Amino acid sequence: MKLLSTKATCNSHGQDSSYFLGWQEYEKNPYDEVKNPKGIIQMGLAENQLSFDLLESWLEKNPDVAGFKRDGKSIFRELALFQDYHGLPSFKKALVDFMADIRGNKVTFDPNHIVLTAGSTSANETLMFCLAEQGDAFLLPTPYYPGFDRDLKWRTEVEIVPIQCTSSNNFQITESALLQAHEEAKKKNLKVKGILVTNPSNPLGTTMSRNELNLLIDFIKDKDMHLISDEIYSGTVFTSPNFVSVMEIVKDINDFKDFDADVLERVHVVYSLSKDLGLPGFRVGAIYSENDKVVSAATKMSSFGLVSSQTQYLLSAMLGDKKFTRNYLSENKKRLKKRQKMLVSGLEKAGINCLKTNNAGLFCWVDMRNLLSSNTFEAEMELWKKILYVVGLNISPGSSCHCDEPGWFRVCFANMSEDTLNLAMKRLKDFVANSNGEGCSSNNSSKKSRRITQSSRRLTRKSFSNWVFGLSSRDHREQEER
Ligand SMILES: Cc1ncc(COP(=O)(O)O)c(C=O)c1O
Repeated sequence: MKLLSTKATCNSHGQDSSYFLGWQEYEKNPYDEVKNPKGIIQMGLAENQLSFDLLESWLEKNPDVAGFKRDGKSIFRELALFQDYHGLPSFKKALVDFMADIRGNKVTFDPNHIVLTAGSTSANETLMFCLAEQGDAFLLPTPYYPGFDRDLKWRTEVEIVPIQCTSSNNFQITESALLQAHEEAKKKNLKVKGILVTNPSNPLGTTMSRNELNLLIDFIKDKDMHLISDEIYSGTVFTSPNFVSVMEIVKDINDFKDFDADVLERVHVVYSLSKDLGLPGFRVGAIYSENDKVVSAATKMSSFGLVSSQTQYLLSAMLGDKKFTRNYLSENKKRLKKRQKMLVSGLEKAGINCLKTNNAGLFCWVDMRNLLSSNTFEAEMELWKKILYVVGLNISPGSSCHCDEPGWFRVCFANMSEDTLNLAMKRLKDFVANSNGEGCSSNNSSKKSRRITQSSRRLTRKSFSNWVFGLSSRDHREQEER
């Protein structure tokens, strides 16, 4: 008898992607300033640890809330018993107000149209279950968040068809890319149920333009499909252009033009507090939809991933404190901006450029094409392994995000201290300097690039270790064995 079900063992979970493998390698040898100064620095995790002090100071000032008290009296029993899958009304109200605030109150959200879920992971999967049959497809612009292969496909058996975006226009979505993806799906006999985008984008760290959003709306209108906008990073936009939510566009069109009301019912927003508030452990996400049928089906499905009542209680008080949340959002953005600048200038010193349009998120989309030994994904893997095992940085290769062009990497900047980021940049700079002896930039001539990569190939893993860490021969052996 087979112990496990086919579903439990099928490999569409995506766990074997280099994105997750990098995390595993980091877990085996994590950097610690004191205990393991030669360890791997985690730069492949989009966590926001920059503003915990603000949250902690709010908790200190509001001890009743974390102590499950209301007006000084314990509400422990009330919270322990609460199990309504519609969620606490006070929390839903506070959450929609917070979402509106992030969007400059240009759009408002009705708490009756929100479904609470255990993070965006659960929200995205729930939407797949609600909107698509097994074997139907969603179109996703590349590069995309590697977790989507697991979240959207694994249990639902929905297919992802990539919308191929390229560096030639900073990876913006074009009509021809949309049409091509749609054709591709048709060739595979897949019924396309919709498009899913992340805005701001993970991994690009960019916001979508109004043009792109209008293009998407026109496309789903024309092809009679859904649009899901995962806006999990909406509160991280640290520099212009400002964030524009798809809801703003849809509602504008709805208000001022002769608009097909049906389209409004086919646009759904996903949100979570994992990034903007830095609380992935709390598992708080949401689906927002103006479609009553979707809200009703998703609410039923949310039984499989509810947000615990004490978490809802705590966050309804925190998000309900508008003075606090407004200050938090503005301070957090300032901190993100500073960090992003540190990363960009650190990389520049190493001769490496980032996507220029980066204005949001917890990461940069980094162009390391000039460090590749050839313009192939094999060469990208080769470079990734060097950076992981020898330089000691876990970054995410573009191929794990389904990027069409080899040599791009996502590098996170908000999950570590400034000192650790500086050390990471130093390691990288030394790596590049030792690879080419004179630094390199992305506008190097191909001749120079070839020289760099040839010399980098000449450096063995052992010799890399030597100059990066100054390792002893015993350390080398340990490194090699890992
Ligand atoms: C675009 C995107 N969607 C969803 C998630 C999952 O977030 P959550 O912790 O809310 O499940 C992530 C996490 O990195 C993400 O980047």
